[in-house]
Order: sequence, then C-alpha cells, then structure tokens
Amino acid sequence: MLETQGNIARKDVIAEALEHCVFPLAPIDDVHRDGPKVYLRGDGVRIMDVDGREYLDMMSSHTRANSLGYGNTEIAGAVAKQLEQLHYVGTVTNFAPPTIELAGKLADLAPEGLSKVLFVTGGSEAVEAAIKMAKQYHAHTGKPRASKIISRWNAYHGATMGALGATDWLDTRHISEPGVPGYSLIPGPSRYRNPFGMEEAAYFAFCADYLERQIQHEGPDNVAAFIAEPIMQAHGVQTASVEYFGRVREICDRYGVLLIIDEVITGFGRTGAWFASEHYGIQPDIMTMAKALTAGYMPMGAVIARPELIDALPVFRHVHTFSGHAGAAAAANTVIAIKEREGLIGKARENGEYLLDTLHEFLDPHPIVGQVRGKGMWLAVDFTADKQTREPFGDDTVRAVVRRMYDHGVIASPIGTAFELAPPLISTRADLDETVRIATLAINEVARERRLI
Ligand SMILES: Cc1ncc(COP(=O)(O)O)c(C=O)c1O
Repeated sequence: MLETQGNIARKDVIAEALEHCVFPLAPIDDVHRDGPKVYLRGDGVRIMDVDGREYLDMMSSHTRANSLGYGNTEIAGAVAKQLEQLHYVGTVTNFAPPTIELAGKLADLAPEGLSKVLFVTGGSEAVEAAIKMAKQYHAHTGKPRASKIISRWNAYHGATMGALGATDWLDTRHISEPGVPGYSLIPGPSRYRNPFGMEEAAYFAFCADYLERQIQHEGPDNVAAFIAEPIMQAHGVQTASVEYFGRVREICDRYGVLLIIDEVITGFGRTGAWFASEHYGIQPDIMTMAKALTAGYMPMGAVIARPELIDALPVFRHVHTFSGHAGAAAAANTVIAIKEREGLIGKARENGEYLLDTLHEFLDPHPIVGQVRGKGMWLAVDFTADKQTREPFGDDTVRAVVRRMYDHGVIASPIGTAFELAPPLISTRADLDETVRIATLAINEVARERRLI
C-alpha cells in the first residue's frame, strides 16, 4: 500500500501514478508539466493534496458530481450499513429494498409523466440504455425502421460507443471511428457566439427549425429520438430557452420522435431545480441521470421513462451486472434525503443567483471577459480577445487563468472558450466570495503578464 505522508512518499506516489496510471482526456505533456493531482483527504468544500495544500473545490470533484462535498459521514454510514447487511443481489428481477425505494423517489422528483426507472452505473450507460429503449419502443409500436438518433453539434452524451455517436465534444468521437451508425447532428443553442453570427433568439429558432428539417431529411419513420442536454456543457453552461424546448417538443410530437433529455450533469440540484427540465417546462419521454444522484459517494446512473414506453416492450433487451447496486442506492437515498432536509435545491438557486450577480459585478467590465452566465450553481465565464468581434483566444489564455486560480487555491475548470464553476451545493457565500476574489485576481495577473490590459 502506498504510504502518502511526507516528501519521499509524495515522490513515490507521483512516480507510481506516472508509471502506471492512464490519464483520460489529459494531454500527456500537461501531465508531465503539472504532474498528476493526488489528493489525500477532503472536508466539506475543501480538498487537501499530497503536499498538504488545501483547495476550495468549486468543480465538485472535477466532474460536477460531488454536490454535497467531502467527508459526509451520513452518506458513508448509510452505504457501509447497507454493504454489511446486503451489499449486492445481482440484476434482472433481483432487487434490494433501497433500490426499489430509490426508483419510487426518482419517479416523485422527475418531471410529470416519467415513472419507470432503470438503474445503471454511470452517465454513458444511462444514455446507451435510453437510446435502446427508444429503438425497442419503436420496434414494437409501428415504426420498426426507426433507428436514427438526432443529436446536436458540441453535445456531450458519454464515452461508450452508442453514447459517443451522439457526442460531438472533447474530440473523442473521430479518433474512435468507425462508430455506431445511425446518428445525425444538428446545430443547438449556444450563447454569446454561434457558428452563423446570428442574433440569439433568431439562432435558437433556427436550431429548432433545423430539427424539423433533419427529421424530414432522414425520413420521420427512420428517426427514433432526439437527444439533448437541457443546458449544454460545451464552452460553458449553454442555457437555452423555454421557446426552444417548446418547439422541440412540438416537433418531436408531430413526427412521432421520442425526446430524450440528458440530465446527467444538470440533475439533482445543480441548476437550482431537481432537474433543469423544470426551468424550461420540458416534458421528456425518457430522461437520463447520474453524477449528483449519489453526490459521487458511489457510482450510479439511471434512466426514467414514460410507463407506456416500457409497457410496450415484452422484454427490454439490455442488462448490466451492477444495475441498481444496493450500496449505491443507499447512497442515493441518503443524498436525496439530505438535499430535501437541508433545502439545498432552493439554496442552490439563491446562492447561484448571488454568485452570478457577484461575477457580473467584478468581471463584466474586464477587457478579456466576454460573457458571464449561469443557472443555479453552474456558471461560466466566457473569454474574448476582442469585445467587439467576440473573437475567442486562439492560445491557452483561458487555461492559464484556471491554472493561476489553482495556484491561488481555487479549483475551476477550463471548458473551450470559457472557464466553468460548479460549486458543491453546500458552499457558503464566503466560499463563493473567495472564488470571485481569486478569479478576478487570476484574470488580472494573466492579462497583465500577457499584455492584454
Ligand atoms: C450530459 C452528459 N451525459 C453523459 C455523460 C457521461 O457520463 P459518465 O461520464 O458518467 O459516463 C456526461 C459526463 O460528463 C454528461 O455530462
């Protein structure tokens, strides 16, 4: 076992990581320059690395999953108790009570009409299962050729091959091709910049119209589903509009195309609602979730669907070994209970507004800040080399700002032209103030060093 106290041990652990670990998505030159990040312990919103340095983790463990912070003994205790009593009972028709309890709870929390739950172990699996549900539903209900899935430019729906077909972000798709056939991608709403330089509302309407065109182009009988994140992560928190999703629902209904809403990032309070669908009045046919479902204490994902979709299937031909794991279900039940008891969804909304206002106040006037935006506790600061043209930086300025924030003890994440903040829902206003102070400091330092101001 690696002993990780003191300097010599630190060298060992970093060297071991460099020798034996794969670093997904990280450019290997960056890994060698900055080293792997090894953390020893966390407490609330703070995490301590192997050198004893403490960071304010405003990314909820990088993936935005860790919505309740580190060291929550109530969740850890519930998981341990369940593992001792009955850790795992298999899959298919085998269940432990916490898994059934969780299914009922998800049906209560999800948008109206969704009530049948399938458990998986993460977001990509949830998307895979959702796509198969849509295809198998059509196979049994009069559109047997409906296999195509329409997704959007810059979407992220996961890394497994079926989910990857619907994905257009992080350069993960082309390098793994040939992929699963049957996907087509259309433009989706993006804020601040869009590929056609259109005014925002007109562009959103164009994106919805495009969906109709694409369904017609593919042939409505061939299209199984349209999949969309309610708020896209690409280039930072791309909020859409009620009108856009209203039109999308209308178009899907007109052509018998199912609407899959991917709430893997946005679910369980991240945006100040249990699900971001609530903000836009979206009524999905199928919805995916993972990440903050367990606040990262155990791996778990889920798909929830309209009952008539599932009832149409004599058999849902799909299974995973660890579906509905009892320990993960215990974590999720406890996470949801804590969020309800502490009123954390409302707090996410209020504190998110506070953070957004504060970021606006300090950063809007900055010459290299293009736009500050966000929904609840999910926010982005988009940068520009030219406020008139909205030209993005062609170099590593955004990454440099995030690295500088890290040096000053605050964890944010670069995401394309922007940096992103996804603070745990338990963050206090003092934590958020500290974040804005460090962000402002880091932007000023980097801008000055690069002679941008
Ligand atoms: C919207 C969305 N869907 C799916 C996924 C894939 O989830 P996972 O990484 O748990 O497989 C992600 C991951 O970031 C996501 O953001």
